[in-house]
Amino acid sequence: MLKDIEKVLLSEQQLAEKVKEIGDAISKDFEGKDVLLVGILKGSVVFMSDLMRAITIPVAIDFMSVSSYGDGSKSSGVVKIVKDLQNDLAGKDVIVVEDILDSGRTLSYLKKHIEAKGPNSISIVTLLDKPERRVVDVYPKYTGFNVPDEFVVGYGLDFAEKYRSLPFIGILKPCVYEK
Ligand code: IMP
Ligand code: MG
Repeated sequence: MLKDIEKVLLSEQQLAEKVKEIGDAISKDFEGKDVLLVGILKGSVVFMSDLMRAITIPVAIDFMSVSSYGDGSKSSGVVKIVKDLQNDLAGKDVIVVEDILDSGRTLSYLKKHIEAKGPNSISIVTLLDKPERRVVDVYPKYTGFNVPDEFVVGYGLDFAEKYRSLPFIGILKPCVYEK
């Protein structure tokens, strides 16, 4: 697995420090609110599990599963909801937890979808952002790191379902996805 990685972009320590920072910010900004953290499967699982433990206020958690990428490395633009949330989110302050914001299509679609369930508020936290790839406007409240336009894996992020279990974020060698 390691031989497919061109270089480590974000180390375990850098990730841990950033997660702590975001957890502190959420704990402060959402004090007294009825928070529901919504992890987007599967890419956000590692970030989600670290982030919820870095948040010191009570939060509920749930997950949504969407398919937008298939097994490739390019966005298909098609977002399909495979697992949804309950229908009534009245009074909830929803924080969507995403691994990476790329074209923005997935989050833009999800935001509208969740808004229709009537939450008190909806915010986005994304660990990674590739701002130069944006096609649809999406504004996360919290962003961990801006990353260059390269295919990254690890810490939950995959290529064709592989590499999610790497504890750091690395740049995948292009020869892996170009073949
Ligand atoms: P968007 O709809 O184009 O913003 O796509 C976001 C989704 O694409 C993320 O949740 C990831 O699943 C996937 N994605 C985008 N870029 C990468 C990458 O560099 N590595 C792994 N997955 C990626
Ligand atoms: Mg993915």
